Amino acid sequence: MLKSSDNDWDQVWIGANIATMAGTVPYGSIDNAALAIEGERIAWIGTAAEGQRQAQARRMTVRDAAGLWITPGLIDCHTHLVYGGNRLEEFEQRLCGASYEEIARAGGGIQSTVRATRASSREALYESALERLTCLMAEGVTTIEIKSGYGLELAAERRLLEVARDLGEKQPISVKKTFLGLHSLPPESAAQRQRFVNELAAAGLVDAVDCFCEGIAFSAAETEQFLKAAKKLGLRAHVHAGQLSDLAAPQLAAKYHALSADHLEFVSADGARAMAAAGTVAVLLPTAYFTLRQTTPPPIALFREAGLPLAVATDSNPGTSPCTSILLAMSMACTLFGLTPEEALAGVTRSAAQALGVLEDVGTIEVGKRADLAFWRIERPAQLCYGLGGNPLAAVMYRGKLREPASAQ
Ligand code: NIG
Ligand code: FE
Repeated sequence: MLKSSDNDWDQVWIGANIATMAGTVPYGSIDNAALAIEGERIAWIGTAAEGQRQAQARRMTVRDAAGLWITPGLIDCHTHLVYGGNRLEEFEQRLCGASYEEIARAGGGIQSTVRATRASSREALYESALERLTCLMAEGVTTIEIKSGYGLELAAERRLLEVARDLGEKQPISVKKTFLGLHSLPPESAAQRQRFVNELAAAGLVDAVDCFCEGIAFSAAETEQFLKAAKKLGLRAHVHAGQLSDLAAPQLAAKYHALSADHLEFVSADGARAMAAAGTVAVLLPTAYFTLRQTTPPPIALFREAGLPLAVATDSNPGTSPCTSILLAMSMACTLFGLTPEEALAGVTRSAAQALGVLEDVGTIEVGKRADLAFWRIERPAQLCYGLGGNPLAAVMYRGKLREPASAQ
């Protein structure tokens, strides 16, 4: 027996290989393991033989997961899942040579989705987001971050955050809500932006804030003003940093102890070191890089050297990443950015949990953590990053409750 709690058990699983993503061996893996669950928590982890013995002593029937791998439930730590319309036209324009920046400066891009979002009913926003969420849940995602940012006025931003909250209340998934206050130039003044944060935080809708620091969005000075306001309110931050150019946003993210800086195609050694020192996670978004046909990948060697935790997410959004597959994001993190499969899996479990500030609760398989688990029909964990399409998920457990997704193969 490796670890035990004194409580009573509800379920004992035996025979699976477990990638705990904790400890020092690769993937934190335990072969032919056993796992006990009490309520919605992991109560015990050990060997199959010991699990069998313990179950017998408790007169419990064991559940056989032989041949499967169990990982922590996956975490998509950066999405813009709730929005109206699509950006098909821009997709076609980009393929005819227009750049993302040109389209944005001409009033398209994020502004175009803001118009479509403001024109959508709450029900339509919920339904379209649910369709995307269902795809992610079918791949074992049990925690997701959802940003607002396509409202850019208080009522519309609030509606997006309420839809995000409703998704988390009605679906078997944990939703972290981020107020992306500075996404694109809104008609309002900076002072009013700060009031947005105040009011939304007071409404209990916000877990963190975000801003897009970029030539086509907000300057470093505006970003700093926003981060300062968030700090005063006691809110942690994420920053869209270095997606298209280096405005030293990673250093700012570090200065304000942001939970994460995301994208990071353009970041200096200083920026990477500052983030590592501040405990700010680097969130990599390879499907956005792919969609924009970018050619400068994030400097992964520099990140490794700095000891930065690397998370991987879908950035699911209509403009730069119409992606609803976390497995594809993992695959691209390996193939386009050179992550190892172990780094990619850590990127959607342990490091993603750290990027959301929820590592004490989820992200690894350890006693006391929430029983959010993904069961896979795979030979070994690298297979999760290997396929392009396909879905080896056998079942998923959220808060101790198991379900077998219809779309699993
Ligand atoms: O993460 N960079 C800013 N935000 C999104 C894109 C939003 C959009 O184009 O609608 C991103 O890439
Ligand atoms: Fe984003």
